[in-house]
Amino acid sequence: MKKYILLGAYLLLSAVLVSCDDGPVYEKTGTISEEGRTLKMSGTINGINKWPDSYSIVVAGFSDESEYAVVTKTIPVPATEGEEIKVTMTGISDEVSTVELCAIDKLRRRIISFQSMDDLTTDDDTLRMNTGIVNVSMYSAIQQNVFNKGCIGCHGIATSAAAGLTLLEGNSYQNLVGHSSTVATGLLRVKAGSAEESVLHQILHTTGWKTDHSNMITEPHTLTLIDDWIDNGAQE
Ligand code: HEC
Repeated sequence: MKKYILLGAYLLLSAVLVSCDDGPVYEKTGTISEEGRTLKMSGTINGINKWPDSYSIVVAGFSDESEYAVVTKTIPVPATEGEEIKVTMTGISDEVSTVELCAIDKLRRRIISFQSMDDLTTDDDTLRMNTGIVNVSMYSAIQQNVFNKGCIGCHGIATSAAAGLTLLEGNSYQNLVGHSSTVATGLLRVKAGSAEESVLHQILHTTGWKTDHSNMITEPHTLTLIDDWIDNGAQE
């Protein structure tokens, strides 16, 4: 109903503005639903500026078939950290089955998803997503998607952590960045600015360690994410 009132108002306004030429007006109103739905997202998104230029923090629509986004809208860096952001993304077609707050690469491939909305049924053409407060920093992405999922089983609480390394949220940063390795003498677990010289990189890419870590992360883009994080200064 609201849609029709809006449509009516739009037509009326258009008629007033371009009363001498109403051809294009019909063309435009006729294609509104084919152009897809609109997402209105709001939330407090922290940590966007910690990503290098090769990635973007976006809201994006994905189909079931592909990890490459069908439609995206970049989330602007807020003027002050902690400020609420509003973003509108138009053109969400029917093939889109999830709308996500995520990091994508230059090819619009999903690297890390922070929040996802699967129920895309709406009464009108507008979807609404409120993310609340989200930390989307690179480091947070790695903590949620790598350490929490595949590492803390062995690198958990300090008293039983393998190699004395705990990768639990809240502890992992201090345990990694600038911290001496207990298994590779003279090296740091993470040397900010140099993935190659960091034991974290080495142990995930090479064999010959007591515990083989080289198959623990199978997605190349996740390994790249860790390297990019270190090479770009390993910010918290
Ligand atoms: C099956 C248990 C296990 C899992 C799972 C595991 N690790 Fe380890 N990790 C170890 C052990 C044992 C060591 C000691 C190194 C060695 O001698 O092989 C170690 C050592 C390390 C080190 C070197 C620590 C230092 O002091 O230099 C890093 C970095 C590391 N692991 C990262 C990870 C990451 C990241 C993950 C998740 C992707 C992970 N580990 C998952 C058992 C595990």
